[in-house]
Amino acid sequence: MNETKTITTDRKESHVEICLNRDVGFDGKTTGFERYEFAHNAAPEIHFNEIDLSADILGYRVSYPFMISSMTGGYGKAENLNRSLAQIAEKLNIPLGVGSMRQALENSLYRESFSIVRQTAPSVPVFANIGAPEVAKGLKDEELHTLVDIVQADGLIVHLNPAQELFQPEGNTDFRNFLSGLRKVAENIAVPVIAKEVGCGISADTAASLIDAGVQIIDVAGAGGISWQKVEEERYLEQSQHENRFSDSALGELLNWGIPTAQCVAEIASLKEKEPKYSHITLVASGGISNGIEIAKALALGADMCASAGMMLKSLHHGRLEETILTWMNDLRAVMFLTGAKNIKQLQKTRITIKKG
Ligand SMILES: Cc1cc2nc3c(=O)[nH]c(=O)nc-3n(C[C@H](O)[C@H](O)[C@H](O)COP(=O)(O)O)c2cc1C
Repeated sequence: MNETKTITTDRKESHVEICLNRDVGFDGKTTGFERYEFAHNAAPEIHFNEIDLSADILGYRVSYPFMISSMTGGYGKAENLNRSLAQIAEKLNIPLGVGSMRQALENSLYRESFSIVRQTAPSVPVFANIGAPEVAKGLKDEELHTLVDIVQADGLIVHLNPAQELFQPEGNTDFRNFLSGLRKVAENIAVPVIAKEVGCGISADTAASLIDAGVQIIDVAGAGGISWQKVEEERYLEQSQHENRFSDSALGELLNWGIPTAQCVAEIASLKEKEPKYSHITLVASGGISNGIEIAKALALGADMCASAGMMLKSLHHGRLEETILTWMNDLRAVMFLTGAKNIKQLQKTRITIKKG
């Protein structure tokens, strides 16, 4: 096994360990959902038990407007993790993504750790995953085919992670030609392309460039949950003898860099509304989502679907993944009852305002 392969597999394993065991959340920056509130509807005219949480994505009708975000694959133990995530996704009829499949392009050693997801979850949308630096470098048609084929994917997620790469000890900070590379991917692949950050968010301007390049779904993955700068800083400090790479006074701001999730959703929803050429895209809200009230707020702000990674990993670790998701869905149902929204489409039209004072 050559060195690159070892680095990729080790990195994926250490990401899970760090996210489970260390404090890698944002300091002093939140998702921004707490700034919003719904108007109470004292005469909702609906029955709580008849609230419909189903949602449509890529031709599938899923049971909830919620998916398990891309996390892992590409090393031995990832197969069990992905199997467990996929079992719950299949049982609850919700979509899920696999982690970066760069390792699977390097060699065929751990392909099972990705393909187990489709084997275990045959009836839900499954997303393949690759990073922006690989897209910027240029992916061959057969590599695109391999990514989709391994998980029989319904879509390819391209994760945009400049801040993560900046802090990653072995990071690739060459993002030149990314947008033209993305356009080629969108033209040459048989499935829709999804652009997703990993915790720093996507602005309306960036979203417009991504849609112009052919992306059909945008997952904002905004700030407020896991800071991937912090995850990589942990790895950097573990691996190197160097002093910090950035000045002490700048480090805090860089570690907490990113656009809060609620702001990304509001900005991109308004772009969709104002510009007909952007109105067709599906908007996914993620990054620090921690309950169903935040999901309700994201949907009312204009998201079509929500997603979570870090909290899903922790819940799985504690044997409570299914319970956590169902509890969040009950939170969501509660908000829908109290605002009089019978289904997700009605919730998306429900008025939400910034709290006063
Ligand atoms: C252990 C772990 C590994 C991750 N690996 C990937 C990855 O390979 N590709 C990707 O697009 N996102 C990856 N992510 C990022 C998540 O999909 C998500 O965008 C990010 O963590 C923000 O959402 P959250 O606050 O709900 O965790 C990973 C997240 C976790 C927790």
